[in-house]
Amino acid sequence: MIKKFIQGLPKVELHLHIEGSLEPELMFKLAQRNNINIPFNDPNEVAKAYEFENLQSFLDIYYQGANVLIHEQDFFDLTWAYLLRCKQDNVIHTEIFFDPQTHTARGIQFSTIINGIDRALKQAEQELNITSNLIMSFLRHLDEDAAFETLAQALQHKDKIIAVGLDSSEQGNPPNKFQYVFQQALKEGFLTVAHAGEEGPASYITEALNLLKVSRIDHGVRCVDDLELLEHLITHKIALTVCPLSNIKLRVFEHMEQHNIVSLLRKNVCVTINSDDPAYFGGYITNNFLAVAQAQEMNLDEIAQFTYNAINASFINHDEKIRLT
Ligand code: ADE
Ligand code: ZN
Repeated sequence: MIKKFIQGLPKVELHLHIEGSLEPELMFKLAQRNNINIPFNDPNEVAKAYEFENLQSFLDIYYQGANVLIHEQDFFDLTWAYLLRCKQDNVIHTEIFFDPQTHTARGIQFSTIINGIDRALKQAEQELNITSNLIMSFLRHLDEDAAFETLAQALQHKDKIIAVGLDSSEQGNPPNKFQYVFQQALKEGFLTVAHAGEEGPASYITEALNLLKVSRIDHGVRCVDDLELLEHLITHKIALTVCPLSNIKLRVFEHMEQHNIVSLLRKNVCVTINSDDPAYFGGYITNNFLAVAQAQEMNLDEIAQFTYNAINASFINHDEKIRLT
């Protein structure tokens, strides 16, 4: 009953790294097509290697996987495969991250990356009836100058990018490291978001709000460590894009029964359910909903609230939000 309800529920995804949707089968296909060596013999071996201790142990494998992406068509194929999964999961709107620095560092042109992704997103709007927005994420383990260079490259593609974000290794790379590049991005008309309070402390969430002027927080589950912050999130309806299966795989919580998303929902925090890097964490958005609902009892209104929250927290325009709710 709950399963059917979740499957049929229209969904909006706000936290998805397109590079994290690279399934082992496609990784193999692209490795062959582009003559790239990967340290695995077949897709099953790849899937078996996905045992992580923390965020960094995942990121090491994730950046390695992205090496098979070379041509515009590869970025198209990657994005299109994700969008076909969205259709199966009844996702009506998605806001996806891409990490240009992961690719430009290997000599791939910024335009190659973004044109491939954008073509798939436009085709999905026409053929699959799925709308989308694209968010460019800076890698926080790199320095702010590198982020400024990436922002400069993005200016020619402003029409394709709605916001800038901040991801990669959180601990030791606080939001304040990127204060000036975010200021510049805001001046250029981009919205801002940031990963904060995934592994890092609640103070990173506060910094992201105050210094980076973010519209929402990616993950944010550590907000419970600061009650003043928690009140602020509730009062100002600041959304958290939570990724339950990711949090279990990366050991942010030991078991789904201990995850705080349902308790946050009941405190009226604007929490949403998302898949983060579904090819690595064992499930797309429907599976994330199911995993939460199976571990913690919720009524149907509560489950549907995740979609209402996601519509409200999305970057779609006001009239469209009213139409969807
Ligand atoms: N890049 C891809 N997935 C991420 C995550 N969960 N946290 C930080 N950076 C990421
Ligand atoms: Zn993420």
